[in-house]
Amino acid sequence: MNKQITEDVSQEKIWDIGTRLFHWALVICVAAAWGLGKFGPNIMTLHFYFGYAVIALLVFRVIWGLVGPAPVRFASFLYGPRTTLRYLRTLGTPKPSYWPGHNPMGALSVFAILAALIAQVGTGLFSDPDDFINVGPLAGYVSSEANRTATFIHNRMLWVILALVVLHIAAIAYYKRFKGENLVTPMITGWKPVRRDESRD
Ligand code: HEM
Ligand code: HEM
Repeated sequence: MNKQITEDVSQEKIWDIGTRLFHWALVICVAAAWGLGKFGPNIMTLHFYFGYAVIALLVFRVIWGLVGPAPVRFASFLYGPRTTLRYLRTLGTPKPSYWPGHNPMGALSVFAILAALIAQVGTGLFSDPDDFINVGPLAGYVSSEANRTATFIHNRMLWVILALVVLHIAAIAYYKRFKGENLVTPMITGWKPVRRDESRD
């Protein structure tokens, strides 16, 4: 049941259970795949398993982005440049946004993280670093030139993913400390304070 908090802000169920489980499972699997890739044993079997789990999660998220509940459907947070710029100008206001879903900046970071992860798992499947041990399961289906390119991209993209995740966490900390808005609890419980009028910023 939605609960009115103030005249224009109400507590609403925004993040469904599927999206919340997806998010926290993704955190675990991406962190594990990253850590195992960089610091794990030379034989990367576990890295592959966590990588496959990330693939399954991404498949779920793409389907959910097309047919899932309104706040997580891609079309609902595909904002135009005008809305994004208007939102950008309000970022310095020390006031919660109470956006009913991903705000326009958050939306950009969601699309960027998902795209980077799709590129990471896609290239992982075709990677072959010539060590005769850690060969992506689809590497044999393409040329060795393509294997090398995939390995190259896989080994660069991991820094892009790290940067995006650091930015993601820094933005959430900024919202908490500067704008006084806690975004993490809603990603755990699903319930988020939202303001539905045009004055939100
Ligand atoms: C490997 C690390 C992480 C990845 C790959 C990641 C990825 C994502 C993605 C893809 C979304 C969009 C959710 C969706 O619509 O499906 C998201 C949202 C979110 N994430 Fe993360 N995340 C990571 C770590 C974290 C951590 C550590 C926190 C908590 C401090 C966090 C808090 C949130 C919150 C609060 C949202 C919702 C943001 C909003 O209100 O718009 N994430 N994250
Ligand atoms: C989000 C998911 C993933 C992340 C974050 C990730 C990250 C990494 C990292 C950090 C390395 C080590 C690179 C280095 O030595 O500097 C690596 C290597 C590798 N990964 Fe992934 N990976 C992911 C998914 C996958 C998947 C799905 C596969 C294929 C099943 C895969 C196959 C490989 C292979 C074959 C290597 C060896 C390449 C090399 O040593 O240059 N990865 N990955």
